[in-house]
Amino acid sequence: MISTAEELRRYGAMTEARLSTLMELKCEPGTLKDAMSYSLIAGGKRLRPALCLMTADMFGSAVQALDIACALEMIHTYSLIHDDLPCMDNDVLRRGKPTNHVVFGEAYAVLAGDGLLNLAFEVMLDAAVKNEGDGLNYLGAMHVIASAAGVRGMIEGQACDIAFEGQDKDEEVLRHIHERNTGAMIRASVLSAAALFRASEAEAAALAAYGEKLGLVFQIVDDILDEVGDEKTLGKSVGKDADAGKQTFARIYGIEASRRIARDLTREAQDALRIFGTRASGLASLAQYLLTRDR
Ligand code: IPE
Ligand code: IPE
Ligand code: MG
Ligand code: MG
Ligand code: MG
Repeated sequence: MISTAEELRRYGAMTEARLSTLMELKCEPGTLKDAMSYSLIAGGKRLRPALCLMTADMFGSAVQALDIACALEMIHTYSLIHDDLPCMDNDVLRRGKPTNHVVFGEAYAVLAGDGLLNLAFEVMLDAAVKNEGDGLNYLGAMHVIASAAGVRGMIEGQACDIAFEGQDKDEEVLRHIHERNTGAMIRASVLSAAALFRASEAEAAALAAYGEKLGLVFQIVDDILDEVGDEKTLGKSVGKDADAGKQTFARIYGIEASRRIARDLTREAQDALRIFGTRASGLASLAQYLLTRDR
């Protein structure tokens, strides 16, 4: 049987090959494209595309979802470029390289983020138009992604993350933030594939539950790694959350309790997949893999 690490590599390679093609575009000044490519091609775990492609393989074929997966990665990368800006988390290291604004300046980093967000929607619309018969299914997937990335999803979460910086620890606020800034796009990664293949209501509900739990686990582990992780392995700076007075799981519950919560949520995520039987064993193993990740 193929390991989760190998599966991630395989889906990552598929995504990266398609991203290179999608980035074969001309724009003047060339610095804009250089800034977009710099962060997009810099690597990263490619988790969101992998979740989308793995779910697509469960219902049909990953190839049909490839442009949706690439759009998810473009939106995620834009969110990282903006998250690192001096006016947000003010970070200098990302994916093992200096952050976008450090290399290209703040104006280009803002525009590179805007460019990737817009390109993501162009790519998805292109796929909808080209796959005439399935066009509405692509629009369904796009709708899932637009809502998750927008003002009732990731962007709202990022606004709350900033608004509640330096305030007293608050569990309710913490969940509100993380279900949105990280959870929404992870949930959308599996649900967009479900929409593309017109999964049944029960199947979509199961995947939504899985995605929600997985999203929270992902951020809990991110928060833990910010406290105890290794900068070189992570490819980003550590210890910034405490300095900025962020609402994090590690700060509110402590490291050990956070790990316990993450373990329980992982089990719940796996339980949510029960209706799929062994068809979902890849997604179940991925949840386990993410619980113990070090990068
Ligand atoms: C980092 O996401 C930001 C969060 C949502 C916690 P990833 O850890 O998936 O970053 P990359 O894509 O691997 O760089
Ligand atoms: C960011 O969360 C979530 C996004 C929407 C980008 P963090 O601010 O914790 O992500 P890192 O730790 O910088 O990757
Ligand atoms: Mg942040
Ligand atoms: Mg950050
Ligand atoms: Mg973090």
